[in-house]
Amino acid sequence: MSVLLTGGAGFIGSHIAVELINAGLDPIIADDFSNSSPDVIDRLYAITSKRIPCYEINVADAPSVSRIFEENAIDAVIHCAGFKAVGESVSEPVKYYRNNLDTTLTILEQMKAHGCENIVFSSSATVYGGSHTAPFTEDMSAGDCTNPYGKTKYFIEEILKDAAFADKSLSVVLLRYFNPIGAHESGLIGEKPNGIPNNLMPYITQTAAGIRKELSVFGNDYPTPDGTGVRDYIHIVDLARGHVAALKYAANHKGTEIFNLGTGKGTSVLELVHAFEQANGIKIPYRMAERRAGDIATCYAGTEKAARMLNWRAEKTLQDMCRDGWRWQQNCVK
Ligand code: WQD
Repeated sequence: MSVLLTGGAGFIGSHIAVELINAGLDPIIADDFSNSSPDVIDRLYAITSKRIPCYEINVADAPSVSRIFEENAIDAVIHCAGFKAVGESVSEPVKYYRNNLDTTLTILEQMKAHGCENIVFSSSATVYGGSHTAPFTEDMSAGDCTNPYGKTKYFIEEILKDAAFADKSLSVVLLRYFNPIGAHESGLIGEKPNGIPNNLMPYITQTAAGIRKELSVFGNDYPTPDGTGVRDYIHIVDLARGHVAALKYAANHKGTEIFNLGTGKGTSVLELVHAFEQANGIKIPYRMAERRAGDIATCYAGTEKAARMLNWRAEKTLQDMCRDGWRWQQNCVK
């Protein structure tokens, strides 16, 4: 089974590529390397001993995507390509809407033109917004997003739903990611943020590496056990395996289905800091800071639906996430 993997050189996409190969499937990567590096393809070879075909294209460009479908018998698409910086999406919303929506529309048009019926989309728990009480379940309302990045995820979900409603041959799986962290255990692929990291785990690993002086803990007066924000951190390899399960589901169903990819367990900022310290024997200097605008107190997944319908569950521990994330940071060029 050949799978077009858009954004396949990125943090999430590269880990999906490995798991597709582990499952005996054949990924074909499309990436413009706008937020990734071509050497990821060599690293994927080092991990899998397979040369993954890679097209350096912009996924919004119809002729380029058409060529991929013409040159390969694509059975399914996993669509991860997209801009993802929350702060940048607030200052440059049009760039985000243009890129994230255009890439999806082009993929959908080209799938139709070439008779490809299965798509798995990289969505986010951010679509649940701030008004629900955790655990967040797939039947809860969505769309109340606080930033343009989140809105692009929600709008794309709606576009895909409408497409599947109109075309009964289409199978759409929307995967709502919680907080993917960690890295492949080889230490060869992982997350490489541009500039100062916005997300907690890369900030912790860069602080451990001495690149950042100390971590700012954004808020210690939330209604949580220790006052710091609670999130559902999931090992990137577990998350990637969720895509393999979703592909199998998509191949045997029609219409749209939504699944959370999370562990179902909430971990506070300070708990993650301490888990990292314990797993790696390194102290993380931190100080308390103001709440960050747009943050909610508690977010974790309901996992029952994915367990029941995809037969998938996250298996790795917080310790695995901390250990593997740190191994990657140490291998990463500063
Ligand atoms: C986790 C917790 C922070 C940094 C965001 C996006 C979401 C998604 C993933 C991506 C919170 C706290 C963080 C720091 C801190 N999308 N924190 N100090 O906010 O759950 O989700 O990233 O593609 O759309 O909103 O993740 O890792 O930024 O924060 O105290 O330096 O860590 O306040 O409680 P978040 P995060």
